[in-house]
Amino acid sequence: MLYPHLGINKEGHLTVGGLDAVALAKEYGTPLYLLDEDVIRENCRTYRAAAKAAFGENAKILYASKALSYKGIYRLMAEEGLGVDCVSCGEIRTAVAAGMPAANIYFHGNNKTDEDLRTALSLGVGRIVVDNEDELRALSAIAEEMKKRQCILLRITPGIDPHTHRAVNTGRVDSKFGSAIATGQAAAITKEALTLPGVALVGYHCHIGSQIFDAEPFLDAARMMLDFAGAIHDETGFPPTELNLGGGFGVPYTATDPVPSYPDMIAALGKVFDEKIKEHGLPAPAVRLEPGRSLVAAAGVTLYTVGAVKEIPGFKTYISVDGGMPDNPRYALYHSQYTALIANRADAASELTATLAGRCCESGDLLGEDMRIARAARGDVLAVLTTGAYNYSMASNYNRIPRPPIVAISGENARLAVRRESFEDLMRNEL
Ligand code: LLP
Repeated sequence: MLYPHLGINKEGHLTVGGLDAVALAKEYGTPLYLLDEDVIRENCRTYRAAAKAAFGENAKILYASKALSYKGIYRLMAEEGLGVDCVSCGEIRTAVAAGMPAANIYFHGNNKTDEDLRTALSLGVGRIVVDNEDELRALSAIAEEMKKRQCILLRITPGIDPHTHRAVNTGRVDSKFGSAIATGQAAAITKEALTLPGVALVGYHCHIGSQIFDAEPFLDAARMMLDFAGAIHDETGFPPTELNLGGGFGVPYTATDPVPSYPDMIAALGKVFDEKIKEHGLPAPAVRLEPGRSLVAAAGVTLYTVGAVKEIPGFKTYISVDGGMPDNPRYALYHSQYTALIANRADAASELTATLAGRCCESGDLLGEDMRIARAARGDVLAVLTTGAYNYSMASNYNRIPRPPIVAISGENARLAVRRESFEDLMRNEL
């Protein structure tokens, strides 16, 4: 099995956190998102301990909640002592409604509206991560008008392309996010931020990409960020008190993916950090890391019921399930690879090469192609693993399909964390 919380019981059924997935499918219906909360808690603790060891007591882990956003996840993150990255007022309001202290919310995004900024200020969001000069000026003016001074970080583009970084280390200067060091815009926005009355600049943020397995691009980004902070310090005397190095740590989805050690990657970052602050004579800023996927992906399993197995002789075999791109658009969008198995015969050999098809009226609605899987029949329960991140949060109602529920597993118990959408829910706002 891909992860230690997954197993096979004596009936040959897939187990998640020790519970029988087939029994859960029967109890709650399919499609169904299962989420092993114990795995998420353990990941939180691993990250916190690694960050403390590498960067000291002031380090904080922020959960990038775009990966999976619903009230219960913010409660869990608050209990585990994490802050959160929110990227919309929807995420912020959900976090606050769940009891996440607003002071522990970092508000991201490349285009925050005036209304977003007002909402964030009135809720008392801890940090706004300012993307560009237009936003900086608008925020300062709104904050002044509201008689506030908002703590901000600036989103800086270090110019690292995490997938080709060795050859092209300024490859991401054209990103829609942030202000690039290479063009001089990062220095310009920093100097302007230091002069504006409605904002208090506390430091810098960067995020170089997602699903990155190699430590090197993270280390390069940290070097560039600290070189930038050092240069600004020399020129203006401004020492950042916070440095947010973003998220993006990779997660294995298939048996051939690497299995990264987050503590090792973070320890390597800690070394670069120590060297660079010494080199530049900077007081050590408090470090923030912002993982999303690597906190929640492995905890998720999606269960479906097989409706049809269709062999097109000489071509391919389709296994059609009762979900698809509405609950998991990642194959349609990115050709993301997954591991799937027949949950009620989890010990059966993978004899078939099949395409997993969803139920939408479109041929691109697939969960994977050429996947090795056991022979299946109508009524079988099919499990897709590692669906905790960017599945529920990116789900849609395409073809008017209600979103599946989330059942959270913790210890020996399973409980409903998010109800299945009803047909009434689908029509709620329609006049
Ligand atoms: N911080 C910022 C500013 C981000 O934009 C992101 C992700 C993260 C942190 C967390 O990255 P993670 O640790 O989850 O890789 N929908 C895509 C992923 C988009 C990621 C967007 N930003 C997917 O399904 O693969």
